[in-house]
Amino acid sequence: MREITATVLENARIAPDVYSLTFACGEEIPVRAGQFCMVQVHGFPLRRPIAVCKAEGERITVCYRVKGAGTHALAETYQKGEKLRVLLPLGNGFFLHGEERVAVVGGGAGVFPLIAAIREFSPTCRVFAYMGFKNRENVCMEYEMRRAEKLVIATDDGSLGYHGTAVQAMMEEVLKFKPELILTCGPLPMLRSLKAAAARLKVPVQASLEERMGCGVGACLVCVCNKTNGEHARVCKDGPVFDLSEVDLDG
Ligand SMILES: Cc1cc2nc3c(=O)[nH]c(=O)nc-3n(C[C@H](O)[C@H](O)[C@H](O)COP(=O)(O)OP(=O)(O)OC[C@H]3O[C@@H](n4cnc5c(N)ncnc54)[C@H](O)[C@@H]3O)c2cc1C
Ligand code: FES
Repeated sequence: MREITATVLENARIAPDVYSLTFACGEEIPVRAGQFCMVQVHGFPLRRPIAVCKAEGERITVCYRVKGAGTHALAETYQKGEKLRVLLPLGNGFFLHGEERVAVVGGGAGVFPLIAAIREFSPTCRVFAYMGFKNRENVCMEYEMRRAEKLVIATDDGSLGYHGTAVQAMMEEVLKFKPELILTCGPLPMLRSLKAAAARLKVPVQASLEERMGCGVGACLVCVCNKTNGEHARVCKDGPVFDLSEVDLDG
């Protein structure tokens, strides 16, 4: 992990309230799919955690939804040429153990770390991607997802692709391609339904959790989550990727 002063190359709106930010690190920094960075926004003491979506040479791209004051300032203030303080790479990331068929199931802003997973794993295994959005207008980065062998875009209102959730879309096809592993990131209700579905299928799930964070490096304990065995884990340091069966989503 290191702290760098990056240079913004682009910070462009790609969907309503969603931006794609590319910055140059000045050197190549190896980043695994599922790892994240902490971005310092002027005027905010706490850095904001954002997953790495794409790492190409010295260029890193993250995609973020404008949620509160910090991400609003990030979208408004940082234009091409601006300097940006960033801590990266953080967290563990997704791990494959020789699986040949992997399903990727994402919802909302959770699709962005999964784009990194599609990019990293598609060359060596069969990736089937199910990506959920609110509606057609919100669909973005589709060209990156098309690297997967199969891509299903799901929308809540049916305005594009499958009418329903990404989990429902995957469940309709799961018996055809029999994934050995599912990778996921998304809102809590989605993780809950996927956890129940995967338990029935007896397929392991690696989930990237989006917990509130303070330091991002394991020191403040703001991000602690409950595990099903009664232990606790720091999402920033021990995760953000966990075996979903080991995480207590109701705690
Ligand atoms: C590992 C990880 C990866 C993430 N990757 C992405 C991504 O790729 N794209 C994306 O759009 N969002 C991502 N998020 C969520 C993103 O961090 C929050 O939306 C963002 O921090 C909100 O900041 P804010 O100042 O706009 O909102 P505010 O609500 O004003 O934030 C107040 C404080 O709460 C923290 N906070 C609020 N919501 C979250 C949240 N969901 N997760 C973590 N901290 C939060 C903020 O960092 C800040 O310290 C990720 C979160 C984590 C933990
Ligand atoms: S955010 Fe400080 S310990 Fe995880």
